[in-house]
This record gives sequence, structure tokens and C-alpha cells, in this order.
Amino acid sequence: MIEFYPQIKSVHVWLILLSGSLFALRGLLVLLGQRWAMHAALRYLSYSIDSALLTAAMMLLVILKLNPFLTPWLACKLVLLVLYVVLGSFALKRAATVRGRGLAYFAAVLCFVTMYGIARAHHPLGWLVLA
Ligand code: HEM
Repeated sequence: MIEFYPQIKSVHVWLILLSGSLFALRGLLVLLGQRWAMHAALRYLSYSIDSALLTAAMMLLVILKLNPFLTPWLACKLVLLVLYVVLGSFALKRAATVRGRGLAYFAAVLCFVTMYGIARAHHPLGWLVLA
């Protein structure tokens, strides 16, 4: 499978960008009161993209023989991913007020940008190392 490493990594990164953009768009639509942001078609599109990107991530772990719990930058990415999913669900539906949804949306986007920096730097300090 190692011969497909560049392609699998590229798929992982493109799906990450697609997933993040879709979340950013849906979050904005929710804040603007556009109910179709939660339309089943968009929800299923989001689930499909996320499943595919996680599958690619698992394949990368196998190819590179990485244990995410023993690799600090990956462990940070996983903790932030859990936080991102929780914040995302508050931003899109769970928060009771527009202010709450806005705050959760902002924090989720920040979380995403931080995860991206950590991944690019291969270091928990992410963008700070790249700067
Ligand atoms: C279960 C979740 C995830 C796992 C297990 C995972 C795992 C990995 C692995 C093993 C690599 C390859 C690293 C290498 O080539 O040395 C990678 C690359 C990458 N991941 Fe993830 N990832 C996950 C989620 C995410 C998320 C949520 C983001 C961003 C928001 C992200 C962004 C990236 C980026 C940008 C790269 C390319 C890094 C580079 O340029 O070398 N990943 N990921």
C-alpha cells in the first residue's frame, strides 16, 4: 500500500479542505437563519466526506505505522478533532441562542485552523512553528 501513500495523503488533505469549507458554509447559513443548511442532502454529503477522510487517515496510520497516542502532533489533532465535532454540533443545532451558535461556530473554525497547522508542522505548536 506504500506506493499509494502520496495519493492517499492528497485525498486526505483535499477531503479535509472540502469538509472544513462545507462546515464553514453551513455554519454561516445557520447564523443567517437559512434552514436549508440542515437539509438531509447536505448532512449526508458531510457524513460521506467525513467518512472518506477518516478512512484515508486510517490508511495513512497503517502505511506509516504510526500510533496516534505515541505521536504528540497526532494526539493533539485527535483531541482537537473531538472538540471540533462537539463545537460543530453546537454551532449547527445544539446551541439554544444565535449568540451561542455564533460563539461555537467561531471556536470550531479556530479549532479547525489549529488542527491544520498542527498537521502541516507535524508539531503540537502548529502555525507557531511554521511562522
Ligand atoms: C482521525 C483523525 C485524523 C488522523 C488519524 C490523521 C492522520 C494523518 C496522518 C497519519 C497524516 C500523514 C502524515 C505524514 O505524511 O507524515 C496526515 C496528514 C495530514 N492531515 Fe490528518 N489526520 C486526521 C484528521 C485530520 C484533520 C481533522 C485535519 C485538519 C483539520 C488534518 C489535516 C492533515 C493535513 C493538512 C495533513 C498533511 C500534512 C503534511 O503536509 O505533511 N487531518 N493526517
